Amino acid sequence: MAGNGASADGYFALQSSREQRGLHVAVIMDGNGRWAARRGLPRVAGHRAGVAAVRRVVERAPELGIETLTVYAFSSDNWRRPAFEVRSILSLIGGYLRLERSTLREAGVRVEAIGRRDRLPRILLREIAQCEAATAGGGGLHLRVAVDYSSREAMARAAARAFAGVGPWASDAEQFPSPDAARRAMAEVLREEGGDVDLLIRTGGEKRLSDFLLWESAYAELVFTDVMWPEFGAAELDAAVEEFLGRERRFGGVVERIENAASPQRAQSSQRERGWVYPVEAPTHLIEPTQVEGGLAGGTADLGGGR
Ligand code: FPP
Repeated sequence: MAGNGASADGYFALQSSREQRGLHVAVIMDGNGRWAARRGLPRVAGHRAGVAAVRRVVERAPELGIETLTVYAFSSDNWRRPAFEVRSILSLIGGYLRLERSTLREAGVRVEAIGRRDRLPRILLREIAQCEAATAGGGGLHLRVAVDYSSREAMARAAARAFAGVGPWASDAEQFPSPDAARRAMAEVLREEGGDVDLLIRTGGEKRLSDFLLWESAYAELVFTDVMWPEFGAAELDAAVEEFLGRERRFGGVVERIENAASPQRAQSSQRERGWVYPVEAPTHLIEPTQVEGGLAGGTADLGGGR
């Protein structure tokens, strides 16, 4: 982890260099199948009800200061599901992009699909292209729909892009980038594509990340809820954001130092007041370890042990 206990001045400098930006919320929409089964309905009925939940959340998100919303609609592992279910989910995604296109454009929502495109049906590719083109000028919510998405694959792709033309890898170890340079380059490519996640929500009661935005969620606050995705709406999104605003984000540092060393409560309420434009961002560069005389024992006290 990156621990910057070097000095308050150093932290201030880091802080002021971070851009002001709205929240990036990511959602793992889980529980459609169980929601349907409990009602004696086919799983696909759960996915259909899930589309309505997407609509509700997209409508509410801008009112909460959410600038980017990334929803996990179809993972690369979802190809393992029965063909009928795969076809149904992909066709629901296509239907959403087609039917909501003009509403989204009027609301200023900019839609983008993330994930692999080489394995998607042509008809879905057409819906994606048309929706992306129609909403490209949107200055409001950035809605990213993850389709055939795998975070490991996305990171491998980013690495390939970041280091294209650098090498030759195998023949000369001297030409490998330093870990710092590699991390900066990777962060730059992945930031271009959506940036760090502030809040990651998973519905449906499970507590795992399922290969979703692993790099971008390095410092995300995680909110797991037992609510099944088809039952998720504005009130549930409000509650998740409220929980997020009550969390203290330290990014491995010590927040009390920035806000008010004597009062962690004040630090937290100040963070809360700033909630709509959230001014902090996880460090994307390597921070030098604190130089501490006498080794780690002194160093841990200075770092505050915060994670
Ligand atoms: C996980 O629930 C959900 C999915 C794999 C599909 C999500 C798709 C939608 C909500 C519809 C389309 C999306 C958009 C953006 C329009 P699950 O089936 O794994 O639920 P279970 O764990 O209860 O079986």
